Amino acid sequence: MDHELIIETEGAIRILTLNRPERRNALSRTLREKLIEAFLDVRADPAIWVVVLAGAGDKAFCAGADLKEGPAASGRRDLGPMHAAAPLLFEVIADTGKPVIAAVNGAAIGGGLELMLASDICIAAQGAKIGLTEAKVGMGAAYASVVLPRAIPSAIALEMMFTGRLIDADEARHWGLVNKVVAAEEVLDEAMEMARTIAGNAPLSVQRMKEMARKSEGLPRAAALRLDVGPNPYLSEDRHEGARAFLEKRKPVWKGR
Ligand code: COA
Repeated sequence: MDHELIIETEGAIRILTLNRPERRNALSRTLREKLIEAFLDVRADPAIWVVVLAGAGDKAFCAGADLKEGPAASGRRDLGPMHAAAPLLFEVIADTGKPVIAAVNGAAIGGGLELMLASDICIAAQGAKIGLTEAKVGMGAAYASVVLPRAIPSAIALEMMFTGRLIDADEARHWGLVNKVVAAEEVLDEAMEMARTIAGNAPLSVQRMKEMARKSEGLPRAAALRLDVGPNPYLSEDRHEGARAFLEKRKPVWKGR
């Protein structure tokens, strides 16, 4: 069903909205597939420079795996995401090559928090509950169990996973999972404002920064500093345009090349 994911575009910004509010935007198989397709489209489209990932309704950003359609419901055997033939949704998002801003309008649980972890920047609603309840429902949190202990102090990450404790947006900000906490009705506007700021900057520079940051994860510093991944802004026309616009006291007109 196409309507599970709403795809909109404003200038160079792609807005992807999880649209299953009646199930708190839980990740059905269809929604996962639509999201993977949408992020691969973003990666391939030179006209898209930033993504905002949002959830429909006022209750949840995303309630994680759809517990009404998993193996428990179908009786299928499932070895788990680490044995999947294709990359995980969260890996595809992290590998988009363009900045991704999560607009966390409400609860982000399980795969909902994993969507936040795969994004680059998070704006969250006051009162949003965030956490990993996989241990409460017999799942594994495959992506978060690797990424969360590297993103925040591991004692906090492991406590969250072992207990299933939900933290609020302020605590998430304290641990660095969230950039900004705003009133629920302002989350999307705030995310869009940040997206417009980013889209006003040289796209190749921004994409280079993201690729360097992502691809250097885990490398020794000396090796990371010799990485040459992502588009090369140093050789771009935009580099000349940026300097010219500054000297001529005008806004640059980026070409993305
Ligand atoms: N999968 C399938 N359906 C889900 C769901 C999920 N992960 N999360 C919520 N729903 C459904 C509920 O079953 C309910 O459906 P019903 O009306 O047929 O009973 C509907 O969405 C509303 O859920 P409810 O719990 O009443 O909403 P809420 O606004 O009070 O709370 C949450 C929102 C997200 C905090 C809560 O739904 C929740 O904790 N969900 C489960 C999260 C979870 O454990 N995910 C799995 C991680 S592996």
